[in-house]
Amino acid sequence: MNFSENKEQAESRAEALRKILHHHNYRYFVLDDPEISDAEYDRLMQELIEIESRFPELSTPDSPTRRVGSPPLDKFETITHHVPMRSLDKGFDESDMIAFDQRVSRSLNTGEKIRYTVEPKVDGVAVALVYQDGALVSGATRGDGYTGELITRNVKTIGSIPLVLQKHEEIDIPEFIDVRGEIYMNISDFRSLNQMRMAQGLPVFANPRNASAGSLRQLDSTITAQRPLKVFVYGVGRTDLLGVSSHAQTINLLHRLGFPVNPHLAAEITVDEVIDFFRQMDEMRKTLDYEIDGIVVKVDRYAYQERLGNTSRSPRWAIAVKFQAMQEQTRVQDIIVQVGRTGAVTPVAVLEPVSIGGVTVSRASLHNQDEVQKKDVRKGDMVLVQRAGDVIPEVVKVLPSYRDGSQRRFEMPLHCPVCAHRLIRFQDEAATRCINTGCPAQLKGNVLHFASKGAFDIDGLGKKLVDQLVETGLVRSLADIFRLDVEMLEKLDRMGRKSAENIVTAIDNSKKVPLSKFLYGLGIRHVGLHAAKLLARYFYTLDALLTAQKDDIEKIEQVGPVMAETVTAFFAMPENRKTIGDMQALGVDILPEGTGGKTDRALEGTTFVLTGTLSSMTRKQAAEKIEAAGGKVTGSVSGQTGYVVAGQSPGSKMDQAREKGVAIIDENRFIQLLKETGA
Ligand code: IVH
Repeated sequence: MNFSENKEQAESRAEALRKILHHHNYRYFVLDDPEISDAEYDRLMQELIEIESRFPELSTPDSPTRRVGSPPLDKFETITHHVPMRSLDKGFDESDMIAFDQRVSRSLNTGEKIRYTVEPKVDGVAVALVYQDGALVSGATRGDGYTGELITRNVKTIGSIPLVLQKHEEIDIPEFIDVRGEIYMNISDFRSLNQMRMAQGLPVFANPRNASAGSLRQLDSTITAQRPLKVFVYGVGRTDLLGVSSHAQTINLLHRLGFPVNPHLAAEITVDEVIDFFRQMDEMRKTLDYEIDGIVVKVDRYAYQERLGNTSRSPRWAIAVKFQAMQEQTRVQDIIVQVGRTGAVTPVAVLEPVSIGGVTVSRASLHNQDEVQKKDVRKGDMVLVQRAGDVIPEVVKVLPSYRDGSQRRFEMPLHCPVCAHRLIRFQDEAATRCINTGCPAQLKGNVLHFASKGAFDIDGLGKKLVDQLVETGLVRSLADIFRLDVEMLEKLDRMGRKSAENIVTAIDNSKKVPLSKFLYGLGIRHVGLHAAKLLARYFYTLDALLTAQKDDIEKIEQVGPVMAETVTAFFAMPENRKTIGDMQALGVDILPEGTGGKTDRALEGTTFVLTGTLSSMTRKQAAEKIEAAGGKVTGSVSGQTGYVVAGQSPGSKMDQAREKGVAIIDENRFIQLLKETGA
């Protein structure tokens, strides 16, 4: 908006801005629970600064532009800073750095290039640490810049803050020194802290800075002590007591006195080098384990700093140049669901497009139903959106102060938006899923998996071809793979007759398939190669598995209720049964496990171990039946053992079988197996 014309408009806007900013100061500094993004706050503040500089008479003594934070909470004792803790003027790009350098140069008029010392602006909480005769006597927050909260006990719990200054022969320990720095939390520590809080059902922190602020301002310092806080120091209040003449020298001295200082510091550089540094740090921020939101540029020489002086709000000798924010606020226009390759149905927020760190973001993942509920994201909400590196943008939190009653809650649809099949949410799983293998959204992934090495192992059926097959409609179900012929394939992009023939041959050769590979190929949730083998060894034939109940499946050693449920749910679906029936009709021959296809001697190559007493036959009779069908019986369990048949009061062989992951079957299952194999 442009207020330069109309002072009346400017006056009412300034008043409104002051109210808004006071409110957000309170949310940010006192409650540690901001309601708007930092970027939005900066924009509002910038707008007010502009109005007040255009019409200085509109500025009021209590304007937020004159203050740095909010008054301290009652609960802490307060302390008056020896030197006010000022804020910094903000810049956002190259032109702001050039303008700053021009202002400084003009004002100092030295005739030479001004030298700056530059460091990252760590995004944490400002702290003032006072040392008397080398010992830490107080720690304080910034408060309103003049008076802060006394948090000495809390500060003392932070390992990297020295309780006494490091002595050196050549350095006289200053009698009094008030060190200024930034308390922060590593991103990795912040994540673990939030994970822990989530597990305990506690609210999570929106970002590392909020976590640092919340941790530092605990009335009970034992809580602070448990939080992984750290510090970088970046200056002192009184610069005249140290016997140094520049900012770079101060940083050096502070480091030698035992304070952590940020390693990425560039001393005594010109404005061009400052601009380079800004660009380098913007790149580097992605690799750092702590958040930085810009750089701080300071005129290096104290003599020059003094000549430039301060405004009530900030020094004229320094500027913070902020990177583009990685968090922004925007409106949720809609919440839709997307179906992934595994059938997982993900709620996605469709956003009013917003530029975050130079990239336009118009969608953010909401992960799953629980996440939507926990964050209480509604259609029409104003939300804080975050982008970190190349990861998918996510909604950090809702900004509830923007709610006006028009917001609508999200409900997970009951049916798949792509194939209209009923959606299922399995016990103990966050994701809602479409389990129809014919669903086009997941068909591509399923076909690829079906053709992969551990499954049907069809050479040449790769991603590009599968995409084409599904998109042209040639493959609408897994069974359609076996309907493909040379003529159909030849018509596809970049497919010659020879390759088409090769693929058809590969498909033909894959038709004789052991049960375990067949089961794995179906891509049933939770059924990987190992689980497929367990199922195949236990049930031996597909028919036995198709008639099994959930309880039967749960009897298998190493198979739990979750997998038992997915398996029965999968086979209960008519679509899946039809696909399997079609495959068999098209010549897919599912071989009983371990037979290598010789169904006349069905148990050929399968070794049994018998333990315990059988009720319907003696062990000798059992052994005879097994051997008649081509199987072998041995006395001890090994990795080669196919089945351990456990009768009444089984012995230690059961335990050995469990240890080695060998299939254990009871007498009923054994008799069934003999029937199925015709033994
Ligand atoms: S110098 C009078 N240097 O940024 C100048 N500040 O608005 C005092 N900050 O919350 C600030 N890193 O705590 C300075 N290297 C750095 C900084 C830094 C982070 C914070 C500071 C304050 C804000 C300044």
